Amino acid sequence: MNTKQTNSLRWQNLPSLLLLARAVMRDNPTQIRNVLRAAVQRLQASSLSPQLDAELLLCAVLERGRTWLRIHDGECLNAAQARAFDDWLERRLRGEPVAYLLGCQEFWSLPLKVAPCTLIPRPDTERLVEVALARAPENCTTVLDLGTGTGAIALALKHERRHWHVTATDRVEMAAALASENAQQLGLSLEVLESDWLAALTGRRFDLIVSNPPYIDPHDPHLRGDGVSYEPLSALVAEHGGLGDLKTIVEHAPQHLCAEGVLALEHGYDQAQAVGRLLLGAGFDDIQTHHDYGGQVRVTSAVWRGDSSDFTS
Ligand SMILES: C[S@@+](CC[C@H](N)C(=O)[O-])C[C@H]1O[C@@H](n2cnc3c(N)ncnc32)[C@H](O)[C@@H]1O
Repeated sequence: MNTKQTNSLRWQNLPSLLLLARAVMRDNPTQIRNVLRAAVQRLQASSLSPQLDAELLLCAVLERGRTWLRIHDGECLNAAQARAFDDWLERRLRGEPVAYLLGCQEFWSLPLKVAPCTLIPRPDTERLVEVALARAPENCTTVLDLGTGTGAIALALKHERRHWHVTATDRVEMAAALASENAQQLGLSLEVLESDWLAALTGRRFDLIVSNPPYIDPHDPHLRGDGVSYEPLSALVAEHGGLGDLKTIVEHAPQHLCAEGVLALEHGYDQAQAVGRLLLGAGFDDIQTHHDYGGQVRVTSAVWRGDSSDFTS
């Protein structure tokens, strides 16, 4: 057989070689699309968002964005990347939240560091930020966020209203430190205090007080939901059917609100009436309830008109 004939035979074989290469790649378990498919299948039983979880973990391992992942899903992971992804996947399968694995979570489009000392900020809480911005008194300058955790609410408010002086408190020392760290990372100034609700704020008044306190009944089955057991109970549950901390805040807030000051609280979907009664009983006015985007009443706000007795306490 001459050289010409050999070359022509090689070219004839090219399509089948390409098909073979494609078949080999299709079965390659380290190819991104295969890694994702297998991970999503495994996560389906335990996660509410298997596709998103798998993509976020893989993006972090590859240090790439989700768009890159989609475009390059034919590429393969190297051995170190495959090991790192497997390790995270196993932890996620045991229930650890993606935000704790990655150490970060976006809130109000702000990238926040998160840690197991406090709650992972939820998208639902952005509704409280919206309500606080809408209901803040016209000349508002002083704002207090009680139980700040990562600093999510306080930092979102500061981000939107740079002239506001925002104070944030948490009883947990590590949470207060985390809020300070997030403020520094984002270049937003925040006064952070360690305090059991309003205890460290004697004599101080604010135009706006916001809080997303613990409000889950200790027996609530939601505490067994995906990843929740990894979050500290001190950030989630409250006594008296979940109303204990809300009650404490409502009762003490009047001594720390300016006249016409606003209190805005996040609460459980079935707690709006009880919170409304607490606010009414404490002397608040213009009590308004606010729905989240799922149609549930999850935020209640009210105005403290102020009276002479405020200034004697
Ligand atoms: C539901 S988490 C909210 C965290 C954050 N504000 C958010 O929305 O993501 C409640 C927070 O309140 C804090 N906390 C619980 N009891 C407290 C108390 N007695 N005084 C101050 N903070 C408290 C917890 O440490 C936790 O960070």
